[in-house]
Amino acid sequence: MCGIFGCILRKGDAAPIIHAALKRLEYRGYDSVGEATIEEGKIHVKKDAGSIDEVHQIRNLDNLPGRIGIGHTRWATHGAPTQANAHPHVGCLEQPEIAVVHNGIIENYAELKKELEDSGHIFRSKTDSEVIAHLIEDTLTNIRREKIKSKSTVHSDFERAVLSAVQRFQGSYAIAVLSAKEPDTIICARHESPLVLGIADDALYLASDIPAFLPLTNRVIYLESGELAVLKSNTFKVTKIASRSEVFPEPKIIDWAPEMAEKQGYPHFMLKEIIEQPSCIRNTLRLQDKYLELITTFMDRAREVIMVACGTSYHACLAASYMFSKLSFLATHPVIASEFVEQHGKSVNIDSTILTVSQSGETADTLAAVETARQRAATILGLTNVVGSTLTRVSRVYIGQQSGPEIGVAATKTFTSQLSVLSQLAIRLAKKRGKVSQEEIDLLEDNIERIPDIVENIIETQHKKVENLAKKHKDKQCFFFLGRGISYATALEGRLKLMEIAYVPSIAFPAGESKHGPISLIQPGFPVFFICPPDDTRKTLIGNIMEMKARGASVIAICEEGDENIIDLVDDYIEITKGIPEVLSPIPYVIPLQLFAYHMALERGCDPDKPRNLAKSVTVK
Ligand code: F6R
Repeated sequence: MCGIFGCILRKGDAAPIIHAALKRLEYRGYDSVGEATIEEGKIHVKKDAGSIDEVHQIRNLDNLPGRIGIGHTRWATHGAPTQANAHPHVGCLEQPEIAVVHNGIIENYAELKKELEDSGHIFRSKTDSEVIAHLIEDTLTNIRREKIKSKSTVHSDFERAVLSAVQRFQGSYAIAVLSAKEPDTIICARHESPLVLGIADDALYLASDIPAFLPLTNRVIYLESGELAVLKSNTFKVTKIASRSEVFPEPKIIDWAPEMAEKQGYPHFMLKEIIEQPSCIRNTLRLQDKYLELITTFMDRAREVIMVACGTSYHACLAASYMFSKLSFLATHPVIASEFVEQHGKSVNIDSTILTVSQSGETADTLAAVETARQRAATILGLTNVVGSTLTRVSRVYIGQQSGPEIGVAATKTFTSQLSVLSQLAIRLAKKRGKVSQEEIDLLEDNIERIPDIVENIIETQHKKVENLAKKHKDKQCFFFLGRGISYATALEGRLKLMEIAYVPSIAFPAGESKHGPISLIQPGFPVFFICPPDDTRKTLIGNIMEMKARGASVIAICEEGDENIIDLVDDYIEITKGIPEVLSPIPYVIPLQLFAYHMALERGCDPDKPRNLAKSVTVK
């Protein structure tokens, strides 16, 4: 997730406006920044790795000439945060004709890059985005060379080049493009990734999100996926990319306060991030094949695979250990990072592979475990949300989980993204090891594609019910979270969310273990969550629900829709879409638990975005 911005002003310099707008978009990414402007038919570019303030100190982002320009604040997905990988990207020409900023993932960039390199293009970065600049440049050259004149005067060469180029992209994009030959124009387009236009009397703006231009105008046009807009100094035109027909969207007036706008109208980042999960999971389905392949190759060859992480990331590892075992027939050992040195410090060796999971890539306990393993020559693999973090630097191979920055302290969208990546690794490894039939693999792959829509549906249909559940239970002193098999990890995560943001002491156990002690806490009205996907553990789990009911517990089930055997037994239930394979179940089944924690925090007067005593990234041991 990155932030893009563009503006055409009637008067004044674009650069300071771009700089200020990027600051307002910084929550979308902050590892590198760049701007491009046009003056007198020349493109001027400044960009570098670092936060906006750091880059501004060195390069003065306000000092570029011209009234028209684009800007980008980056959250690295393809290629580390370096100056070369920062946007804007330009084509091959010494004096650039094209400059592009991009948010999204061009899935087929490797094929396009090869094709363009074969026809002489020279790439400077490791990003997928650079291909956009070269392809537009190449298409423009072809249009001119072949002297293909547009039959109508509707589209200029520049517009025709962008229209043709974007039709070749697979994946997601929001782009803004400048051409030195049309110095009064910005062309922007989107597929999936967000893009809005801001209309003012003396300027036009484009941005990934409204806060970028909200202090300047509150008249907004939401571009639809599949639309392209041509902005000129006092007009704009919106076209459907597929049909090339013009559309006439009406501007809307936004009455959000700037702070609200950053959260896109949501009262808290946590809620925004819960609701963003479908699109984050969709991003994880666009991971680069070569990294999945490399990681699974290392795992396949390892004598032992240890998964190391803290907190929520550890819960993702625990769930993954069931996935690897059930699909790939590979035993993996999830270990809490702060225990790793004591537990495995002496036994880990050159034959060990450590799959390290850390959203931030900077958690001190996790990095300490990695350091011990590295000193003993183990192979380090990484899964992280922050490309360029320490974890990416110390890993033999790493994979970015593509969730975009998470501002709420409690991990939500990054957890389900981790699970999605880990399940893809498990499926890939199952294929490699020939342990599962092709039919089963096909079914899993089809289902993983359905997960974003399923999550969307759960949020839409169950949110209100969960909110009411929180109202009902807001004064309870303690909760149980129970699950069997892979759902034990879901139970642990539900419990962590509730404890950390609503400050309710809670207990999570494998459901079978509860009768070995914890059940003594149960008395009438004690709230117990059961995570009940319809897997092999369901029958036994029903027995555990009955044990709790017999002691007067107030049971809340997260179960499959229409699962009457469970619904009839319990006090409250939240329903999850039918037909989700067991190994993928933690992704949808955790959603109501995240929402429950969020609403419990509100009911109890806690700020869900800033839980006391906690930091987003724990960089001390
Ligand atoms: C819980 C939470 C923490 C983190 C943990 C690890 O909501 O956010 O438990 O999961 O501090 O952080 P990373 O994944 O950055 O290593």
